[in-house]
Amino acid sequence: MPATVVVGSQWGDEGKGRVVDLLAEEADLVVRYQGGNNAGHTVWVGDQRYAFHLIPTGILRGKLSVLGAGMVIDLEVLLEEESELASRGVPVQGNLRISENAHLILPYHKLIEEAEEKRRGKRAIGTTRRGIGPAYEDKMARRGLRVGDLRDPDALAEKLSDVVEYKNLMLTKVYKSPPVDPDRLYTDLRAFYDHFADAICDTSVIVHDALVQEQRVLFEGAHGAMLDIDWGTYPYVTSSNPLAGAVSAGIGIGPQWIDRIVGAAKAYTTRVGAGPFPTEVEEDIAKDMRDSGGEYGSTTGRARRIGWFDAVVVGKTVRLNGIQGLAITHLDVLGRFEEIPVCVGYRCGGEQVSVLPNQIELLARCEAVYESLPGWKSDISQVKRFADLPQNAQRYLRHIEELVGVPVSHVLVGRQRDQSIFI
Ligand code: IMP
Repeated sequence: MPATVVVGSQWGDEGKGRVVDLLAEEADLVVRYQGGNNAGHTVWVGDQRYAFHLIPTGILRGKLSVLGAGMVIDLEVLLEEESELASRGVPVQGNLRISENAHLILPYHKLIEEAEEKRRGKRAIGTTRRGIGPAYEDKMARRGLRVGDLRDPDALAEKLSDVVEYKNLMLTKVYKSPPVDPDRLYTDLRAFYDHFADAICDTSVIVHDALVQEQRVLFEGAHGAMLDIDWGTYPYVTSSNPLAGAVSAGIGIGPQWIDRIVGAAKAYTTRVGAGPFPTEVEEDIAKDMRDSGGEYGSTTGRARRIGWFDAVVVGKTVRLNGIQGLAITHLDVLGRFEEIPVCVGYRCGGEQVSVLPNQIELLARCEAVYESLPGWKSDISQVKRFADLPQNAQRYLRHIEELVGVPVSHVLVGRQRDQSIFI
């Protein structure tokens, strides 16, 4: 610390929640800078499972938790998440701050996304259907509503009437869907405002002041770098920039404040939704790993697609994010294999390449080139020190370090907090 970013270095679901929870013990503030409730971060404490979608996982450790300006926020979901945590003894009110500049996800965003995914048919992105893309579209089109807009009832009514008229035309005329009721929406939004009013503020000031006072700030990335709108497998990506570079704009602080960037990477690879995935394995192997690794989306419950570790992908995302250390998660899941393939390059049209192509049409023509490493065929879930890992597990990690060019700083071998190895 003082300012550390945790980012996903694959297609999301790398176990960032677990990594953030680990590092949050030492933090004063935990801050999200992009995305919305398309994220799903799972943390286990004993036999209790906590699934976070909007609120930073730091809330579990009683840390001040900030939803930054770069986020898109569905206040109904936020309220549900808060109530669920409060009912389980985790206080949220008092520890939550919401940026007044964050954009709102509104019911018409979800309806339009649903209709648009249906319209795309075979070309559907496979989104989480949480209204994320349409909310970011409105932000960029300068017709979005921001959290701070809820403060002034008259101004809110005026903005809503204009935008709802437009959205209802889209819904009814283009998508042949039912319209939304503007009066009901207004009443709901005012009620949400009354509930969250004390938490809504200029969070850039809070984070900046904390940094000036040398407090420890942890930035919790959501999704993964391969889902980045600019650098991922476009168009099969999310609508924000999960990259570490987005912290500055997403929070409203200068980039010089960032001290350390930790990349979370699974010891293999998963992805949900459509899009290219060069190291994807056959369904029989995938099923086995899916069951032992609990590979079902924590937001949508969808079965995740599974593949071997792809050093070309992680090499690229180390470069894109400036990752300085990798937290390798789910290493225990590989304990069943005699041999473990690792992708070290691609063969594209007869040529071997080591840099991931940016166009998905090119990527689709690439075939993964593997090296096979010997497995360790044992249960490592109780190992607490790197030196106590089987030689072949150590060798696997060292090989990943060589391939992607950064050291492994943490290894997670199970879902519990104490199943963590610090290197
Ligand atoms: P959206 O973010 O809901 O628009 O979905 C766009 C793509 O990103 C889909 O393939 C989703 O499955 C994927 N996606 C979004 N958030 C996550 C995440 O946190 N983990 C894994 N995949 C995600």
